[in-house]
Amino acid sequence: MSTSKPFVDGKFAKHFVIACCLVPGLLLLWDAYQGQLGVNSVNYAIRTTGLVGLVFITLALAITPLRRLTKWNVLISVRRNFGVFGFFYISLHFLIFFALDRDLSVSSTLHEIVTRVYLWFGFGALVLMIPLAITSFDSMVSRLGGKRWKKLHRLTYVVATAGVIHYYLLVKADTTKPVAFAIVIGLMFGYRIIALAFPPPVKKRPRFWSGELRIARIVDETHDVKTFRFVSPTGGPLPFEHIAGQYLNLKLTIDGNRVNRSYTIASPPTRREYCEISVKHVQNGYGSKHLHETWREGHLIKVSAPAGKFYFAGDEAKRIVLIAGGIGITPMMSVTRSLCDRGWRGDIYLMFSVKLVKDIVFRAEIAELQAKHPNLKVLVTITADPDVAWDGERGHITREMIERFVPNLRRGPVMLCGPDPMMTAMRALLVDMGIPDADVHQEAFISPPTPAQGAAAVEVEEVPEGVRNLRFARAGKDVKLMNGLTVLEAAEDCGIDIPYECRSGICGQCKTRLLSGRVAMEVQDALTPSDKAKGLILACQARAVNDTIVDA
Ligand SMILES: Cc1cc2nc3c(=O)[nH]c(=O)nc-3n(C[C@H](O)[C@H](O)[C@H](O)COP(=O)(O)OP(=O)(O)OC[C@H]3O[C@@H](n4cnc5c(N)ncnc54)[C@H](O)[C@@H]3O)c2cc1C
Ligand code: FES
Repeated sequence: MSTSKPFVDGKFAKHFVIACCLVPGLLLLWDAYQGQLGVNSVNYAIRTTGLVGLVFITLALAITPLRRLTKWNVLISVRRNFGVFGFFYISLHFLIFFALDRDLSVSSTLHEIVTRVYLWFGFGALVLMIPLAITSFDSMVSRLGGKRWKKLHRLTYVVATAGVIHYYLLVKADTTKPVAFAIVIGLMFGYRIIALAFPPPVKKRPRFWSGELRIARIVDETHDVKTFRFVSPTGGPLPFEHIAGQYLNLKLTIDGNRVNRSYTIASPPTRREYCEISVKHVQNGYGSKHLHETWREGHLIKVSAPAGKFYFAGDEAKRIVLIAGGIGITPMMSVTRSLCDRGWRGDIYLMFSVKLVKDIVFRAEIAELQAKHPNLKVLVTITADPDVAWDGERGHITREMIERFVPNLRRGPVMLCGPDPMMTAMRALLVDMGIPDADVHQEAFISPPTPAQGAAAVEVEEVPEGVRNLRFARAGKDVKLMNGLTVLEAAEDCGIDIPYECRSGICGQCKTRLLSGRVAMEVQDALTPSDKAKGLILACQARAVNDTIVDA
């Protein structure tokens, strides 16, 4: 279990830096109060605030290289504080000049700015800082999106350069300090250019894995939910990595029929030696009945993983709202377990709705996690079962219940998983509360169509040895296939974007038109007869049998 915690808390670091940044201003005030600013007190105050502002802007710029060098991620939490204080002191620098040096005269101030070259740079730096200051809040970061925010804030280098030129032109005689600033800022700029030119090697996404796992343990969670724990048959860590919320696919053979089912990996990615699925025995359910009734500890099962884009890794936001109905608790459990294991410092709001008290899956574990982690808030509501004792909430999740439970819920991410009618109602309710639709993420627990009783299994064509040409018509790229890659894998290798989710032939996200040639597909569950008639293939399953052209 991983519990790596930074040696300095981000909140503490922020408060400490804010206190330190206030010190020069307070000292200046104190000196002014004592009448110790010297003969030319206005000039002294202008110079001091300007110098302090430049120091803080330089410190804000130093954070990124320092963090890369030291690997102290906590430094990032104080970068914006330095920037905001830089803006504060530079604004003060200008206000003192305007109020005490120019006697609040707009025309005299403007005249100075226009006629003195060093003021062009100083005033320019101040104007450029305004959009940076306005966008320095969390809400603006999420509104602009991380990438655009970062691009905009690269302006800080222009601000710092203009500030240094302003300083250099002003001091005339002793240029030691501005030159020192120029060297430091120049070094940091050089570092950024080198970092941009030689980015660290991109970590290759681990290939989707498929193979056999052994059932190590089976646990009865409730009257109709069992947890199956899988381990690597050869021991050691699992052969794949996943993100909390993703799922795996099972290849089952039931009564001679090939059946594929997806199950969320309810265990967290922090526990590398095993993964678990928690399966509800669905009434008349073909797959879940088979798992519940025939699976035994020690059995080997066919799995492919990881799949899905319904996940929360922890670095996307500082608060996560999880809303689950019934067995839809499994992805939420993976997220909660993972964040708790890692000592995540954000707030986790878990709302869990079930029909009966006896349906509460993971009841004891959730209570235990809640007791150990004050940042985990849990609300369980029972929608039926009036005769059974329950001192928690009752009834379906309502707007009033959410507002009482989650303070100031205006933005996501919100993760939603449960029966279809519940998800439809919850999404409408959340959007009505003002949460952007794009912030509400949901996962539907559905099965692919089950083969009709007695239907013949689909014959899978052999993929012959040898080299074949695969052409991506729209991208205008050709690939020589030698190693049995799927169309999706070949597309990824040459940077062509084909959407996907399950990578197991179940979800249909990767449907692509075959323009010529032939492909073999092991699983075609997601293709309807009409898809097949239109020449659609599943890129995640398709392996070229001969020279092939696809519409991608
Ligand atoms: C991404 C994802 C993650 C999932 N995670 C989980 C999880 O963590 N835990 C979990 O328990 N499940 C999960 N599921 C659901 C799971 O994959 C199965 O859908 C579920 O177990 C039911 O499968 P089954 O074979 O037992 O039932 P199915 O045979 O698929 O039947 C499902 C229901 O439909 C009815 N039905 C079947 N055929 C027909 C028909 N022809 N006409 C009318 N009704 C019919 C059945 O009576 C039954 O009520 C997930 C699904 C997805 C897509
Ligand atoms: S990615 Fe789901 S069918 Fe191909």
